[in-house]
Amino acid sequence: MQVITAVQALKQYIRVLKERRSTIGLVPTMGALHEGHLSLVRQAKKENDAVVVSIFVNPLQFGKNEDFSRYPRTFDNDCNILSQEGVNIVFNPGASEMYPDGFCTAVIPESLEDKLCGKSRPGHFRGVAVVVLKLFNLIQPDVAYFGQKDFQQTVVIRRIVSDLNAGVTIKVLPTIRDQNGLALSSRNAYLSETERNDALCLYQALIRAQSLVKTGIVNTEEMVREMEKIISQSKSATIDYISVVNPETLESVQKAQSGDVVALAVRIGKTRLIDNVILTIYEQPILSDT
Ligand code: PAJ
Repeated sequence: MQVITAVQALKQYIRVLKERRSTIGLVPTMGALHEGHLSLVRQAKKENDAVVVSIFVNPLQFGKNEDFSRYPRTFDNDCNILSQEGVNIVFNPGASEMYPDGFCTAVIPESLEDKLCGKSRPGHFRGVAVVVLKLFNLIQPDVAYFGQKDFQQTVVIRRIVSDLNAGVTIKVLPTIRDQNGLALSSRNAYLSETERNDALCLYQALIRAQSLVKTGIVNTEEMVREMEKIISQSKSATIDYISVVNPETLESVQKAQSGDVVALAVRIGKTRLIDNVILTIYEQPILSDT
């Protein structure tokens, strides 16, 4: 496994892979790897000749008062894991390598960036958009892998690829959870034991939403009220948002349909966690009277 920090060196390795006509799978990450990340790496490994994993805590996607400086960094451990997974290249650039002096270009996902998480994280999705597009340009992957856990991020990335003809296939894989249903996240490392227990309310609320629609309750105001009840039982929880949205536009819907997404962000103590489910609603079978 090659660990590369310089853009120039990365370009050379990519050129060699392209000359060999190897297909390239890319898994962009910020490190502090867990089984969620590894599910993407394993899928990339299955489907491509070569796998590149980027590890870069991207300063442009963190707000001023967010956790950039204390974001967990476990680089050596990450590399050990990735080498065991048979990854070919780890790209771990410094901030000045990605954003040299004079860098001033923005990628703005206009109608998507102020929805859901964008409301409390202004600028976040521009930061994600520009770094992911840079990675696509540098690595020229055939397929790039993302997790459904960051649902809005996947919508933004699909939009950019389509709008700017990026020529990369985007694959979104299911959210990996612990045995209690808590979505794995590098930020779970911030939680105390009690908070980790409180954090289960996110998934419990989502399951409640899914079971409500299965019993025919599709009024999203009512769904959100029920979810709020569940979350308010956790002492350390404060709701940032709960929303049922169209999976492409991210506009809120009043009546939930199959394929709509229930997304939420909840602060557990000082830690902001996100999660979501894609709703499935079984149609009533049409009974024939013959
Ligand atoms: P990071 O939070 O490290 O996540 C990297 C990838 O792993 C993302 O696609 C994310 O959705 C996925 N992921 C995280 N937790 C997951 C889980 N429990 N199950 C499945 N997949 C999971 O997302 C980012 O980094 C950054 O915004 C990035 C795209 C790298 C741009 O900087």
